[in-house]
Amino acid sequence: MRKPSLSTEELLLTDRPALEALPPLAGPLLAWYDRAQRILPWRENPTPYRVWISEIMLQQTRVEAVRGYFTRFLAALPTVQDLAAVDDDALLKLWEGLGYYSRARNLKRAAQAMMERHGGTLPASYAALLDLPGIGEYTAGAIASIAFGIPVPAVDGNVYRVISRLLGSYADISLPAVKAAFRDAVIPMLPQERPGDFNQALMELGATVCLPNAAPQCLSCPVAGSCAGCAGGFALELPVKAQKKPRRVEERTILLVVAGGRLLLLRRGDRGLLAGMYEPLNLEGTLPEEASLAAVRALGGSPQRAIPLAPAKHLFTHVEWRMSGYLIHCPPFETPGGVWADGDSLAGEYALPSAFRPFLSQINNSEYN
Ligand code: ADE
Repeated sequence: MRKPSLSTEELLLTDRPALEALPPLAGPLLAWYDRAQRILPWRENPTPYRVWISEIMLQQTRVEAVRGYFTRFLAALPTVQDLAAVDDDALLKLWEGLGYYSRARNLKRAAQAMMERHGGTLPASYAALLDLPGIGEYTAGAIASIAFGIPVPAVDGNVYRVISRLLGSYADISLPAVKAAFRDAVIPMLPQERPGDFNQALMELGATVCLPNAAPQCLSCPVAGSCAGCAGGFALELPVKAQKKPRRVEERTILLVVAGGRLLLLRRGDRGLLAGMYEPLNLEGTLPEEASLAAVRALGGSPQRAIPLAPAKHLFTHVEWRMSGYLIHCPPFETPGGVWADGDSLAGEYALPSAFRPFLSQINNSEYN
């Protein structure tokens, strides 16, 4: 049995013997990918635009969740030009529920940059892609290799896990220098003829076989024979990833203020968390009924009673919201920056973050209408 080796220090400070010892994997990986790859909408007709949109959607989001969004987005905005010109609210509505909304705003900014700098197309160059808003090393590598056949690596979270296990490396993959070393390790393996398929095969292996935590399916793995983690029986201990800082906890009170079958929504500011999205009245702290009613009065409303709703929580990258909520009926009133959304405009017009779904789903239709 091979001993676990390659701590972070060994990986970065020695002459990286094990990195160089990574066997050539392209043959078995591509053969496996040809028969086992999932059928995904963006893999049919992988134009640069379709690959770009899919790769941005797939960041921090599961393949199954992305399918429907991808098809709808492409139908609404089929070209770079359409995306560059889309209205911000319409764009956020297309992204509603996917989360990490700055991805959508960066897509539009990048499309505008492509109109200005690249004649309305994606540039066929890793460096020029990297220069666009929202496109980092991974995404530039994915677009360059999948859409343009340029042999550059595209190493996502799944692939860092695969490489850790192949190498039997206990180096901490949360460190940028370790990530860079792993990306470097992939370069000599990249086949000149099918770099995009090779990159996707590594990702696919991570997503469907070399599963996280204690679930690697080594018996189904096309490269198990070349894997130090599998040979040594310690694949499931890998990868090593330092604990992130715990999220900051914020208490919020969410008020569903309903008047004449419409819900009061306010647009969030243009910066920061959930920028530009619509939300019900969202107040700091855990407020009792009286303070919640007072907040609605301060906006110009005359509410009588607040009906408590079941609490909910929502996790963002760095923040956790612990939310209490009330349903508040009151006669319609005007308030600056507020809109009164009926069921149709909630469904089709205003982009509401999924953080509020647990509250909205508690208002049954008869109460709401
Ligand atoms: N995750 C992100 N992009 C992917 C791709 N092109 N194939 C498989 N998994 C992915």
